[in-house]
Amino acid sequence: MNLLRVVFQCLLVSLSEGIDRHLCRCLSDIAKRHFSSRINLVISDNTESYTCHHVSTNFSRTLNHFNENSSGIDTQTWDLFLSDLHLSERWSLLLTRPNKEINTKYIADRKHGSYILVPGYGQIEDVTEYIRIQITNLKTSRDWNPRARFLIILTQSNNFTEARLKILEDIFTELWKFRVINVVILTRALKTKLGKIDVDEKNLPVFDAFTWFPYEPSAKCGEIRDAVLLDRWILQGKGNFLFNTSLYPPKIPKDFRGCPLRVSAFEYPPMMMRMKTEYGIIEYEEGIELRLLHQMARITNMSLLFRPPPADNGYWGNDLGNGSWTGLTGEIIRGYSDIALDNFWYRCHILNDMECLEPHFMDSAMWFVPCAKRYPRWTSITRVFEANLWLGLLSSYITVSLFMWLVVKIIHNISHPDNEAYTGIVQCFLNFWAVILEESAPNNPPNVFSIRFVFLMWVMYCWAVNTVYQTFLTSYLIDTGLQSQISSEKELLNSGMTYGIHKVLLVQIPHLASKHYPRRIDCVTFEYCQDRTAFKGDLAFVFSSLNMAYVIAERYMDGNGKPLICKFDEIISTQIISIPVIKGLPMIDELNNVIQNTKEAGLLEYWLKNVEYIAILASANDFSVPGGEYTKLTLEHLQSPFYFLFLGYALSLITFITEFISRWKQAVH
Ligand SMILES: *[C@@H]1O[C@H](CO)[C@@H](O)[C@H](O)[C@H]1NC(C)=O
Ligand SMILES: *[C@@H]1O[C@H](CO)[C@@H](O)[C@H](O)[C@H]1NC(C)=O
Ligand SMILES: *[C@@H]1O[C@H](CO)[C@@H](O)[C@H](O)[C@H]1NC(C)=O
Ligand SMILES: *[C@@H]1O[C@H](CO)[C@@H](O)[C@H](O)[C@H]1NC(C)=O
Ligand SMILES: *[C@@H]1O[C@H](CO)[C@@H](O)[C@H](O)[C@H]1NC(C)=O
Ligand SMILES: *[C@@H]1O[C@H](CO)[C@@H](O)[C@H](O)[C@H]1NC(C)=O
Ligand SMILES: *[C@@H]1O[C@H](CO)[C@@H](O)[C@H](O)[C@H]1NC(C)=O
Repeated sequence: MNLLRVVFQCLLVSLSEGIDRHLCRCLSDIAKRHFSSRINLVISDNTESYTCHHVSTNFSRTLNHFNENSSGIDTQTWDLFLSDLHLSERWSLLLTRPNKEINTKYIADRKHGSYILVPGYGQIEDVTEYIRIQITNLKTSRDWNPRARFLIILTQSNNFTEARLKILEDIFTELWKFRVINVVILTRALKTKLGKIDVDEKNLPVFDAFTWFPYEPSAKCGEIRDAVLLDRWILQGKGNFLFNTSLYPPKIPKDFRGCPLRVSAFEYPPMMMRMKTEYGIIEYEEGIELRLLHQMARITNMSLLFRPPPADNGYWGNDLGNGSWTGLTGEIIRGYSDIALDNFWYRCHILNDMECLEPHFMDSAMWFVPCAKRYPRWTSITRVFEANLWLGLLSSYITVSLFMWLVVKIIHNISHPDNEAYTGIVQCFLNFWAVILEESAPNNPPNVFSIRFVFLMWVMYCWAVNTVYQTFLTSYLIDTGLQSQISSEKELLNSGMTYGIHKVLLVQIPHLASKHYPRRIDCVTFEYCQDRTAFKGDLAFVFSSLNMAYVIAERYMDGNGKPLICKFDEIISTQIISIPVIKGLPMIDELNNVIQNTKEAGLLEYWLKNVEYIAILASANDFSVPGGEYTKLTLEHLQSPFYFLFLGYALSLITFITEFISRWKQAVH
């Protein structure tokens, strides 16, 4: 064994100038075999003086300062390797440096497919930190793809010993924070036997390719950090891999054996309902997305671990202005949870730090306004005519009475009619009032054509007006009708009503914050706005129609089963509902499959109907069901006639008392 080592060392020394050639060939081999062509290959190097550059112009200029003492590869070799990649025209190449901002003007139309990281010169102990910096920088790009294939070149140290395998574990720990799993680390070959791979003279190893299997065994839930030697580059001919095995084997198990899936959620019908906490463990009992989540957990065999609802009414979260987010979004971005539920409106177009699963619903933001109130019943007697019609009636009553009086007076001057009725002005008024009330006038008008003609005209007029009045009055007594209902956004804005818009909605619908909506107030909680709209009726608000359909059915119904909150058909914005997950979530494909299958089976709609139906049944308990189509006339319907009756009684009583008192006074004097 000792002898072998000596031979090995000598060979290595003699190789040392050829080692870069080998590295070059080894890298080319990996790239050609494992990096699928036609997708972006990103090369991140850790030396100075470089700006992000899409390699397509002057290659050698880029490379001249690309390579000064980085990674122990000499400029020439690196140049050779890169020009080899470039000339093969199989990839679109992107070179980046961590100390420079990624050029955001360059937007590839697809995600990065593979990465080569060269963590730079210096002590091997610093490598983890370099990798962290590089990935943090790469992450700022929209095309960052933690599921891509990663190759980390760590060949700078030629005394890479077994003890230093620990460094690889540190690197894996760091990579796990970014959920980077498909990674191969290329190091100088260890001079010892490793696992089942032995060193022999025929197959002298030059480089080792290490990787890790975070889920093997899967019950350890991604906690495994052991470096596993996959293959070695051996010195045979021009050099080749010993086993030619796949360097990027599948690492995500199908069965996670009860590993926890951390879920962020809050109570939000009909998606997540009936939260309860027992011994510090949070559970939900019902909900559409809860059922979907259980389906996901069952397929992947994971257990669910619910986080407490976000504090301070954060709900889905909004931007604090300095790049940090509150609510569910914040929990996902900071990696506190893996998945967030609750009717989540698609946000992945504005947030690069999370991923979204397949959309599973469509929702829309709508205005919700107080429902129009019924007219009070006592108004039904006066409400039949508008004020000007009442005035018309009154003025015609006065003019016709006066006219009658004049006509009678003139007739009396000319001839002497058979009776004295209608000669006084008070008589005229009283008699005509009797006609309005459809009473018979106490004395006949004199038998003169012109007097009778005026009288007849007044009777005809009163008959017409009375008929119309009574028809309307009857229908108003039965159904008082509704005051006008706000039915468009324009009407709402003109009505002067305030409107509540919760600030989390502004993330997706920013125009609601514009000065087009000057009377906007912030809803502290959704319930506050809903209660105010339903019970006080002085507020409108914007919200999700999917949620409100359920909430109104469950909570905001009056005794007759009529909603207290109304909406109109205008849609403010249509929203896709999609579940956000932590960027790089390993089991995303399985979860997407579950969503796809659930959608195709029509289960989501079925669950929605089911949950809504149960809610309606539950709240129907409290309804006093109206007795069918026909309405019995109740005392309530005849409220207004009774009010007027009592008013009349009161007036007569007062008149009676006054009369009585005045008589009594006369008697005394
Ligand atoms: C590329 O850069 C080198 C060195 O800076 C220069 O000599 C050469 O002319 C350039 N080639 C082109 C095509 O710009
Ligand atoms: C590269 O190595 C040379 C000596 O070989 C050294 O002077 C120089 O500072 C190194 N460059 C960097 C960026 O460390
Ligand atoms: C090899 O590693 C040891 C520490 O393990 C270090 O002291 C030594 O300087 C290294 N040699 C080279 C040539 O890097
Ligand atoms: C690996 O592949 C290379 C070229 O593709 C071939 O020369 C070599 O024999 C293969 N090795 C094994 C062990 O299959
Ligand atoms: C799910 O995981 C448990 C371990 O937590 C295991 O006993 C069970 O067999 C697994 N179920 C399936 C269907 O693989
Ligand atoms: C952003 O601001 C909030 C308070 O406004 C603060 O609590 C938080 O720490 C800040 N975050 C960052 C990343 O600066
Ligand atoms: C009615 O006749 C008397 C005289 O007979 C006269 O004084 C009076 O002005 C007449 N009135 C009218 C309204 O014509």
